[in-house]
Amino acid sequence: MKERINRKYVMGLDVGTTKVCAIIGEQDPDGSLSILGVGSTPSLGLKKGIVIDMDQTIESIQKAIQKAVSVAGIESHDLVVGIAGGHIQSHDSRASVEIVNVTGGVRRRDIVRVNERAKALAMPVDREILHSIPQEYSTDSGPVKNPMGQVTTKLEVNVHIVTASVTSVQNLMKCIKQAGYNTNSILLESIASSESILLPQEKEMGVLLLDIGGGTTDLAIFSRGHIRYSGVIPLGGDNITNDIAFGLKISPFDAENAKKKYGCAMTNLVRPEESFSVTQIVNNKKVTIKRQKMADIIEARMEEIFHLSKERINSISVNEKSYAGLVITGGSSLIEGIAELGEKAFECPCRVGYPNNLKGMASVVSSPIYATGLGLVRHGFSDVLNQPPNGSSLYEWIKDNMIKFIGFFK
Ligand SMILES: Nc1ncnc2c1ncn2[C@@H]1O[C@H](COP(=O)(O)OP(=O)(O)OP(=O)(O)O)[C@@H](O)[C@H]1O
Ligand SMILES: [Mg+2]
Repeated sequence: MKERINRKYVMGLDVGTTKVCAIIGEQDPDGSLSILGVGSTPSLGLKKGIVIDMDQTIESIQKAIQKAVSVAGIESHDLVVGIAGGHIQSHDSRASVEIVNVTGGVRRRDIVRVNERAKALAMPVDREILHSIPQEYSTDSGPVKNPMGQVTTKLEVNVHIVTASVTSVQNLMKCIKQAGYNTNSILLESIASSESILLPQEKEMGVLLLDIGGGTTDLAIFSRGHIRYSGVIPLGGDNITNDIAFGLKISPFDAENAKKKYGCAMTNLVRPEESFSVTQIVNNKKVTIKRQKMADIIEARMEEIFHLSKERINSISVNEKSYAGLVITGGSSLIEGIAELGEKAFECPCRVGYPNNLKGMASVVSSPIYATGLGLVRHGFSDVLNQPPNGSSLYEWIKDNMIKFIGFFK
Protein backbone atom coordinates (compact mmCIF):
# COMPACT_ATOMS: atom_id res chain seq x y z
CA MET A 1 0.00 0.00 0.00
CA LYS A 2 1.14 3.53 -0.74
CA GLU A 3 0.34 6.38 1.64
CA ARG A 4 -3.06 6.25 3.28
CA ILE A 5 -4.08 9.75 2.31
CA ASN A 6 -2.80 11.36 -0.81
CA ARG A 7 -4.39 14.21 -2.70
CA LYS A 8 -2.96 12.73 -5.85
CA TYR A 9 -5.70 10.10 -5.78
CA VAL A 10 -9.42 10.66 -5.57
CA MET A 11 -12.14 8.09 -4.92
CA GLY A 12 -15.61 8.57 -6.39
CA LEU A 13 -18.46 6.78 -4.63
CA ASP A 14 -21.70 6.32 -6.57
CA VAL A 15 -24.34 4.91 -4.23
CA GLY A 16 -26.93 3.96 -6.85
CA THR A 17 -30.22 2.07 -6.69
CA THR A 18 -28.82 -0.91 -8.61
CA LYS A 19 -25.15 -0.87 -7.67
CA VAL A 20 -22.70 0.83 -5.32
CA CYS A 21 -19.55 1.66 -7.20
CA ALA A 22 -16.20 3.00 -5.97
CA ILE A 23 -13.61 4.24 -8.46
CA ILE A 24 -10.06 5.35 -7.58
CA GLY A 25 -8.33 7.57 -10.11
CA GLU A 26 -5.35 9.77 -10.66
CA GLN A 27 -5.20 12.79 -12.95
CA ASP A 28 -2.49 12.86 -15.60
CA PRO A 29 -0.75 16.12 -16.52
CA ASP A 30 -2.57 16.10 -19.91
CA GLY A 31 -5.92 16.23 -18.08
CA SER A 32 -6.89 12.62 -18.76
CA LEU A 33 -8.00 10.39 -15.92
CA SER A 34 -6.04 7.23 -15.07
CA ILE A 35 -8.31 4.65 -13.49
CA LEU A 36 -6.43 2.60 -10.91
CA GLY A 37 -9.19 0.61 -9.23
CA VAL A 38 -12.90 -0.11 -9.55
CA GLY A 39 -15.20 -1.93 -7.16
CA SER A 40 -18.87 -2.50 -7.87
CA THR A 41 -21.36 -4.42 -5.79
CA PRO A 42 -25.16 -4.82 -5.95
CA SER A 43 -26.97 -2.13 -4.00
CA LEU A 44 -29.47 -3.69 -1.65
CA GLY A 45 -30.33 -0.85 0.73
CA LEU A 46 -31.64 1.88 -1.60
CA LYS A 47 -34.96 2.63 -3.24
CA LYS A 48 -35.31 5.43 -5.80
CA GLY A 49 -32.03 6.95 -4.59
CA ILE A 50 -33.03 6.97 -0.90
CA VAL A 51 -31.45 4.82 1.84
CA ILE A 52 -34.13 2.41 3.12
CA ASP A 53 -31.80 -0.06 4.87
CA MET A 54 -28.71 1.39 6.53
CA ASP A 55 -26.98 -1.92 7.37
CA GLN A 56 -27.27 -3.18 3.79
CA THR A 57 -26.05 0.16 2.43
CA ILE A 58 -23.04 0.25 4.80
CA GLU A 59 -22.14 -3.30 3.76
CA SER A 60 -22.39 -2.47 0.04
CA ILE A 61 -20.26 0.67 0.50
CA GLN A 62 -17.58 -1.28 2.39
CA LYS A 63 -17.52 -4.07 -0.21
CA ALA A 64 -17.29 -1.68 -3.17
CA ILE A 65 -14.51 0.39 -1.57
CA GLN A 66 -12.55 -2.70 -0.47
CA LYS A 67 -12.68 -4.08 -4.03
CA ALA A 68 -11.51 -0.77 -5.54
CA VAL A 69 -8.71 -0.42 -2.96
CA SER A 70 -7.46 -3.97 -3.48
CA VAL A 71 -7.33 -3.52 -7.26
CA ALA A 72 -5.64 -0.11 -7.03
CA GLY A 73 -3.27 -1.01 -4.18
CA ILE A 74 -3.91 2.52 -2.94
CA GLU A 75 -6.27 3.82 -0.29
CA SER A 76 -7.66 7.29 -0.91
CA HIS A 77 -9.70 9.06 1.75
CA ASP A 78 -10.30 11.95 -0.63
CA LEU A 79 -13.84 10.88 -1.25
CA VAL A 80 -16.43 12.53 -3.51
CA VAL A 81 -19.94 11.13 -3.06
CA GLY A 82 -22.81 11.36 -5.52
CA ILE A 83 -26.35 12.12 -4.47
CA ALA A 84 -29.65 11.76 -6.36
CA GLY A 85 -33.23 10.72 -5.69
CA GLY A 86 -36.74 12.09 -5.66
CA HIS A 87 -35.90 14.39 -2.71
CA ILE A 88 -33.63 16.57 -4.89
CA GLN A 89 -35.17 19.87 -5.98
CA SER A 90 -33.78 22.82 -7.88
CA HIS A 91 -34.82 26.39 -8.57
CA ASP A 92 -33.34 29.79 -9.34
CA SER A 93 -32.92 32.58 -6.79
CA ARG A 94 -32.19 36.27 -7.52
CA ALA A 95 -30.60 38.74 -5.13
CA SER A 96 -28.88 42.11 -5.27
CA VAL A 97 -26.56 44.16 -3.03
CA GLU A 98 -25.54 47.83 -2.97
CA ILE A 99 -21.87 48.50 -3.69
CA VAL A 100 -20.57 50.80 -0.93
CA ASN A 101 -17.37 51.99 -2.59
CA VAL A 102 -18.71 52.52 -6.14
CA THR A 103 -15.52 53.91 -7.70
CA GLY A 104 -13.42 51.10 -6.20
CA GLY A 105 -15.42 48.58 -8.26
CA VAL A 106 -16.90 45.21 -7.31
CA ARG A 107 -14.68 43.26 -4.92
CA ARG A 108 -14.56 39.55 -4.13
CA ARG A 109 -16.41 40.16 -0.86
CA ASP A 110 -19.31 41.81 -2.79
CA ILE A 111 -19.60 38.70 -4.97
CA VAL A 112 -19.60 36.47 -1.87
CA ARG A 113 -22.19 38.79 -0.21
CA VAL A 114 -24.64 38.74 -3.16
CA ASN A 115 -24.34 34.97 -3.49
CA GLU A 116 -24.92 34.51 0.26
CA ARG A 117 -28.05 36.67 -0.01
CA ALA A 118 -29.41 34.62 -2.93
CA LYS A 119 -28.77 31.48 -0.90
CA ALA A 120 -30.43 32.90 2.23
CA LEU A 121 -33.54 33.90 0.24
CA ALA A 122 -33.80 30.36 -1.11
CA MET A 123 -33.16 28.52 2.15
CA PRO A 124 -36.22 26.42 3.01
CA VAL A 125 -36.57 24.70 6.40
CA ASP A 126 -35.75 20.94 6.44
CA ARG A 127 -33.74 21.23 3.21
CA GLU A 128 -30.01 21.49 2.68
CA ILE A 129 -28.40 23.48 -0.12
CA LEU A 130 -26.14 21.12 -2.05
CA HIS A 131 -25.04 23.53 -4.76
CA SER A 132 -25.55 27.19 -5.48
CA ILE A 133 -24.30 27.89 -8.96
CA PRO A 134 -24.22 31.51 -10.18
CA GLN A 135 -25.89 31.75 -13.60
CA GLU A 136 -25.24 35.37 -14.45
CA TYR A 137 -24.37 38.67 -12.80
CA SER A 138 -25.82 42.09 -13.63
CA THR A 139 -24.42 45.54 -12.94
CA ASP A 140 -25.83 49.02 -13.72
CA SER A 141 -24.77 48.47 -17.34
CA GLY A 142 -26.54 45.09 -17.71
CA PRO A 143 -25.45 41.43 -17.68
CA VAL A 144 -21.70 40.74 -17.22
CA LYS A 145 -19.77 37.47 -17.28
CA ASN A 146 -17.34 38.44 -14.51
CA PRO A 147 -18.35 41.39 -12.30
CA MET A 148 -14.94 41.64 -10.55
CA GLY A 149 -13.65 45.26 -10.62
CA GLN A 150 -16.73 46.66 -12.47
CA VAL A 151 -17.83 50.16 -11.44
CA THR A 152 -21.52 49.95 -10.45
CA THR A 153 -23.90 51.00 -7.66
CA LYS A 154 -25.62 47.61 -7.52
CA LEU A 155 -24.63 43.98 -8.13
CA GLU A 156 -27.28 41.41 -8.98
CA VAL A 157 -26.97 37.65 -9.32
CA ASN A 158 -29.18 34.81 -10.52
CA VAL A 159 -28.19 31.57 -8.77
CA HIS A 160 -29.26 28.00 -9.55
CA ILE A 161 -29.91 26.34 -6.20
CA VAL A 162 -29.98 22.56 -5.79
CA THR A 163 -31.45 21.37 -2.50
CA ALA A 164 -31.84 17.99 -0.86
CA SER A 165 -33.83 16.72 2.09
CA VAL A 166 -31.66 17.14 5.22
CA THR A 167 -32.54 13.68 6.52
CA SER A 168 -31.73 11.95 3.19
CA VAL A 169 -28.29 13.62 3.11
CA GLN A 170 -27.66 12.79 6.78
CA ASN A 171 -28.63 9.13 6.29
CA LEU A 172 -26.25 8.76 3.35
CA MET A 173 -23.44 10.51 5.27
CA LYS A 174 -24.11 8.32 8.30
CA CYS A 175 -23.74 5.17 6.17
CA ILE A 176 -20.44 6.44 4.75
CA LYS A 177 -19.17 7.33 8.22
CA GLN A 178 -20.15 3.94 9.63
CA ALA A 179 -18.43 2.30 6.68
CA GLY A 180 -15.25 4.00 7.98
CA TYR A 181 -15.06 7.01 5.67
CA ASN A 182 -15.66 10.75 5.89
CA THR A 183 -16.27 13.43 3.35
CA ASN A 184 -17.47 16.99 2.83
CA SER A 185 -17.70 16.60 -0.92
CA ILE A 186 -21.21 15.73 -2.12
CA LEU A 187 -22.09 16.21 -5.75
CA LEU A 188 -25.39 15.98 -7.58
CA GLU A 189 -25.11 12.84 -9.71
CA SER A 190 -26.19 14.50 -12.94
CA ILE A 191 -23.44 17.12 -12.53
CA ALA A 192 -21.00 14.24 -11.96
CA SER A 193 -22.18 12.35 -15.07
CA SER A 194 -21.93 15.54 -17.11
CA GLU A 195 -18.25 15.87 -16.16
CA SER A 196 -17.37 12.48 -17.58
CA ILE A 197 -19.45 12.43 -20.77
CA LEU A 198 -20.37 15.91 -22.02
CA LEU A 199 -18.06 17.86 -24.27
CA PRO A 200 -17.37 21.54 -23.40
CA GLN A 201 -19.01 22.63 -26.70
CA GLU A 202 -22.18 20.66 -25.86
CA LYS A 203 -22.39 22.36 -22.45
CA GLU A 204 -21.89 25.70 -24.17
CA MET A 205 -24.43 25.16 -27.01
CA GLY A 206 -27.11 23.64 -24.80
CA VAL A 207 -27.70 19.97 -24.08
CA LEU A 208 -30.25 17.87 -22.20
CA LEU A 209 -28.67 15.05 -20.21
CA LEU A 210 -30.79 12.06 -19.16
CA ASP A 211 -29.14 9.56 -16.80
CA ILE A 212 -31.49 6.57 -16.85
CA GLY A 213 -30.35 4.31 -14.00
CA GLY A 214 -32.15 1.48 -12.23
CA GLY A 215 -34.53 3.39 -9.97
CA THR A 216 -34.46 6.96 -11.24
CA THR A 217 -33.92 9.12 -14.30
CA ASP A 218 -31.89 12.23 -13.53
CA LEU A 219 -32.37 15.09 -15.94
CA ALA A 220 -30.22 18.16 -16.33
CA ILE A 221 -29.95 20.97 -18.85
CA PHE A 222 -26.60 22.63 -19.49
CA SER A 223 -26.09 25.73 -21.58
CA ARG A 224 -23.58 28.57 -21.76
CA GLY A 225 -21.21 26.26 -19.87
CA HIS A 226 -23.36 25.81 -16.74
CA ILE A 227 -26.13 23.66 -15.36
CA ARG A 228 -29.45 25.49 -15.85
CA TYR A 229 -31.93 22.93 -14.59
CA SER A 230 -31.87 19.67 -12.67
CA GLY A 231 -34.64 17.27 -11.73
CA VAL A 232 -35.42 13.63 -11.03
CA ILE A 233 -38.14 11.32 -12.44
CA PRO A 234 -38.74 8.32 -10.14
CA LEU A 235 -38.64 5.76 -12.98
CA GLY A 236 -35.76 3.77 -14.47
CA GLY A 237 -34.60 0.42 -15.83
CA ASP A 238 -36.02 -1.54 -12.88
CA ASN A 239 -39.52 -0.51 -13.96
CA ILE A 240 -38.77 -1.88 -17.44
CA THR A 241 -37.59 -5.18 -15.92
CA ASN A 242 -40.78 -5.43 -13.83
CA ASP A 243 -42.95 -4.66 -16.88
CA ILE A 244 -41.20 -7.44 -18.84
CA ALA A 245 -41.56 -9.92 -15.96
CA PHE A 246 -45.26 -9.10 -15.65
CA GLY A 247 -45.94 -8.95 -19.41
CA LEU A 248 -44.12 -12.19 -20.29
CA LYS A 249 -45.01 -14.03 -17.05
CA ILE A 250 -41.36 -14.71 -16.23
CA SER A 251 -39.26 -14.13 -13.08
CA PRO A 252 -37.64 -10.68 -12.55
CA PHE A 253 -34.25 -12.41 -12.79
CA ASP A 254 -35.04 -13.85 -16.25
CA ALA A 255 -36.65 -10.56 -17.29
CA GLU A 256 -33.46 -8.64 -16.40
CA ASN A 257 -31.32 -11.07 -18.42
CA ALA A 258 -33.69 -11.07 -21.40
CA LYS A 259 -33.79 -7.24 -21.38
CA LYS A 260 -29.99 -6.98 -21.44
CA LYS A 261 -29.55 -9.69 -24.09
CA TYR A 262 -32.51 -9.15 -26.46
CA GLY A 263 -34.00 -5.79 -25.44
CA CYS A 264 -34.73 -3.04 -27.94
CA ALA A 265 -36.35 0.34 -27.27
CA MET A 266 -38.02 0.63 -30.68
CA THR A 267 -40.27 -2.14 -31.98
CA ASN A 268 -39.82 -1.24 -35.64
CA LEU A 269 -36.03 -1.76 -35.39
CA VAL A 270 -36.60 -5.48 -34.69
CA ARG A 271 -37.26 -7.99 -37.50
CA PRO A 272 -40.62 -9.84 -37.03
CA GLU A 273 -39.01 -13.30 -37.18
CA GLU A 274 -36.55 -12.67 -34.28
CA SER A 275 -37.35 -14.58 -31.10
CA PHE A 276 -35.81 -16.04 -27.93
CA SER A 277 -36.83 -18.64 -25.38
CA VAL A 278 -37.57 -18.17 -21.66
CA THR A 279 -39.06 -20.21 -18.83
CA GLN A 280 -42.45 -19.09 -17.57
CA ILE A 281 -43.10 -18.98 -13.83
CA VAL A 282 -45.78 -21.16 -12.20
CA ASN A 283 -45.71 -23.99 -14.81
CA ASN A 284 -41.95 -23.85 -15.45
CA LYS A 285 -42.62 -24.20 -19.19
CA LYS A 286 -40.10 -23.08 -21.84
CA VAL A 287 -41.77 -20.72 -24.32
CA THR A 288 -40.64 -18.84 -27.41
CA ILE A 289 -41.14 -15.08 -27.27
CA LYS A 290 -40.99 -12.67 -30.21
CA ARG A 291 -38.36 -9.97 -29.67
CA GLN A 292 -40.90 -7.46 -30.98
CA LYS A 293 -43.27 -8.36 -28.13
CA MET A 294 -40.62 -7.44 -25.53
CA ALA A 295 -39.64 -4.33 -27.52
CA ASP A 296 -43.30 -3.18 -27.32
CA ILE A 297 -43.10 -3.37 -23.51
CA ILE A 298 -39.75 -1.55 -23.35
CA GLU A 299 -40.82 1.14 -25.82
CA ALA A 300 -44.01 1.90 -23.85
CA ARG A 301 -42.08 2.47 -20.58
CA MET A 302 -39.28 4.42 -22.25
CA GLU A 303 -41.84 6.63 -23.95
CA GLU A 304 -43.38 7.31 -20.55
CA ILE A 305 -39.96 8.26 -19.11
CA PHE A 306 -39.34 10.60 -22.07
CA HIS A 307 -42.87 12.03 -21.87
CA LEU A 308 -42.52 12.80 -18.13
CA SER A 309 -39.08 14.34 -18.75
CA LYS A 310 -40.52 16.57 -21.49
CA GLU A 311 -43.46 17.55 -19.30
CA ARG A 312 -41.05 18.51 -16.51
CA ILE A 313 -38.96 20.59 -18.90
CA ASN A 314 -42.06 22.30 -20.29
CA SER A 315 -42.96 23.41 -16.78
CA ILE A 316 -39.75 25.43 -16.34
CA SER A 317 -39.01 28.93 -17.59
CA VAL A 318 -38.05 29.47 -21.25
CA ASN A 319 -34.55 30.71 -20.36
CA GLU A 320 -33.50 27.39 -18.84
CA LYS A 321 -34.95 24.94 -21.33
CA SER A 322 -33.12 25.63 -24.57
CA TYR A 323 -30.98 22.71 -25.73
CA ALA A 324 -29.65 21.66 -29.11
CA GLY A 325 -29.27 17.96 -28.44
CA LEU A 326 -29.93 15.05 -26.10
CA VAL A 327 -27.34 12.79 -24.42
CA ILE A 328 -28.60 9.65 -22.67
CA THR A 329 -26.41 7.80 -20.17
CA GLY A 330 -26.72 5.42 -17.17
CA GLY A 331 -27.13 1.63 -17.43
CA SER A 332 -30.48 1.81 -19.23
CA SER A 333 -28.92 3.74 -22.12
CA LEU A 334 -27.35 0.40 -23.16
CA ILE A 335 -30.67 -0.79 -24.59
CA GLU A 336 -30.50 -1.04 -28.38
CA GLY A 337 -32.48 1.67 -30.18
CA ILE A 338 -32.54 4.15 -27.28
CA ALA A 339 -30.86 6.96 -29.27
CA GLU A 340 -33.36 6.50 -32.14
CA LEU A 341 -36.30 6.64 -29.72
CA GLY A 342 -34.79 9.68 -27.94
CA GLU A 343 -34.35 11.47 -31.25
CA LYS A 344 -37.99 10.81 -32.17
CA ALA A 345 -39.37 11.82 -28.76
CA PHE A 346 -37.34 15.02 -28.32
CA GLU A 347 -37.07 15.93 -32.03
CA CYS A 348 -33.35 16.70 -31.73
CA PRO A 349 -30.04 14.88 -32.31
CA CYS A 350 -29.34 12.24 -29.67
CA ARG A 351 -26.38 10.08 -28.65
CA VAL A 352 -25.55 7.61 -25.89
CA GLY A 353 -23.03 9.14 -23.46
CA TYR A 354 -19.88 7.07 -22.91
CA PRO A 355 -17.18 8.36 -20.53
CA ASN A 356 -14.32 10.04 -22.39
CA ASN A 357 -10.63 10.85 -21.94
CA LEU A 358 -9.71 7.81 -19.80
CA LYS A 359 -6.53 5.81 -19.22
CA GLY A 360 -5.58 2.89 -16.97
CA MET A 361 -8.50 0.48 -16.59
CA ALA A 362 -10.36 2.37 -19.32
CA SER A 363 -11.72 -0.78 -20.97
CA VAL A 364 -13.40 -1.83 -17.71
CA VAL A 365 -15.14 1.49 -17.03
CA SER A 366 -15.86 2.76 -20.55
CA SER A 367 -19.58 2.25 -20.09
CA PRO A 368 -22.50 4.59 -19.33
CA ILE A 369 -22.93 2.55 -16.11
CA TYR A 370 -19.79 4.21 -14.73
CA ALA A 371 -20.52 7.76 -15.99
CA THR A 372 -21.45 9.03 -12.51
CA GLY A 373 -18.58 7.35 -10.62
CA LEU A 374 -16.01 8.61 -13.11
CA GLY A 375 -17.48 12.11 -13.03
CA LEU A 376 -17.16 12.12 -9.23
CA VAL A 377 -13.46 11.29 -9.52
CA ARG A 378 -12.96 13.95 -12.19
CA HIS A 379 -14.75 16.49 -10.04
CA GLY A 380 -12.38 15.70 -7.16
CA PHE A 381 -9.55 17.02 -9.29
CA SER A 382 -11.38 20.05 -10.65
CA ASP A 383 -10.79 23.52 -9.32
CA VAL A 384 -14.29 23.68 -7.87
CA LEU A 385 -13.15 21.85 -4.77
CA ASN A 386 -10.06 23.99 -4.43
CA GLN A 387 -11.71 27.40 -4.69
CA PRO A 388 -14.20 29.07 -2.41
CA PRO A 389 -17.50 28.01 -3.96
CA ASN A 390 -19.46 31.10 -5.00
CA GLY A 391 -22.10 31.12 -2.40
CA SER A 392 -20.37 29.54 0.56
CA SER A 393 -18.72 31.91 2.97
CA LEU A 394 -14.99 32.45 2.92
CA TYR A 395 -15.00 31.27 6.54
CA GLU A 396 -16.70 27.96 5.56
CA TRP A 397 -14.25 27.46 2.73
CA ILE A 398 -11.19 28.13 4.91
CA LYS A 399 -12.61 25.81 7.60
CA ASP A 400 -13.33 22.97 5.09
CA ASN A 401 -10.00 23.34 3.36
CA MET A 402 -8.03 23.51 6.61
CA ILE A 403 -9.58 20.12 7.47
CA LYS A 404 -8.50 18.74 4.07
CA PHE A 405 -5.08 20.38 4.42
CA ILE A 406 -4.51 18.85 7.87
CA GLY A 407 -5.81 15.48 6.60
CA PHE A 408 -3.25 15.56 3.80
CA PHE A 409 -0.33 15.55 6.26
CA LYS A 410 -1.79 13.01 8.73
N1 LIG B 1 -27.02 -4.01 -21.42
C1 LIG B 1 -28.07 -3.44 -20.83
N2 LIG B 1 -29.23 -3.29 -21.52
C2 LIG B 1 -30.31 -2.75 -20.92
N3 LIG B 1 -30.35 -2.32 -19.66
C3 LIG B 1 -29.21 -2.44 -18.93
C4 LIG B 1 -28.02 -2.99 -19.48
N4 LIG B 1 -27.07 -2.99 -18.52
C5 LIG B 1 -27.65 -2.45 -17.42
N5 LIG B 1 -28.92 -2.13 -17.67
C6 LIG B 1 -29.91 -1.54 -16.73
O1 LIG B 1 -29.38 -0.37 -16.16
C7 LIG B 1 -29.94 -0.17 -14.87
C8 LIG B 1 -28.81 0.17 -13.90
O2 LIG B 1 -28.18 1.32 -14.34
P1 LIG B 1 -27.16 2.12 -13.41
O3 LIG B 1 -26.04 1.22 -13.02
O4 LIG B 1 -26.83 3.37 -14.13
O5 LIG B 1 -28.12 2.39 -12.16
P2 LIG B 1 -27.81 2.99 -10.71
O6 LIG B 1 -26.85 4.11 -10.84
O7 LIG B 1 -27.45 1.91 -9.77
O8 LIG B 1 -29.27 3.49 -10.33
P3 LIG B 1 -29.83 4.97 -10.06
O9 LIG B 1 -29.00 5.92 -10.84
O10 LIG B 1 -31.25 4.89 -10.53
O11 LIG B 1 -29.75 5.14 -8.58
C9 LIG B 1 -30.65 -1.45 -14.48
O12 LIG B 1 -32.05 -1.27 -14.58
C10 LIG B 1 -30.16 -2.45 -15.54
O13 LIG B 1 -31.14 -3.40 -15.86
MG1 LIG C 1 -26.99 6.19 -11.16
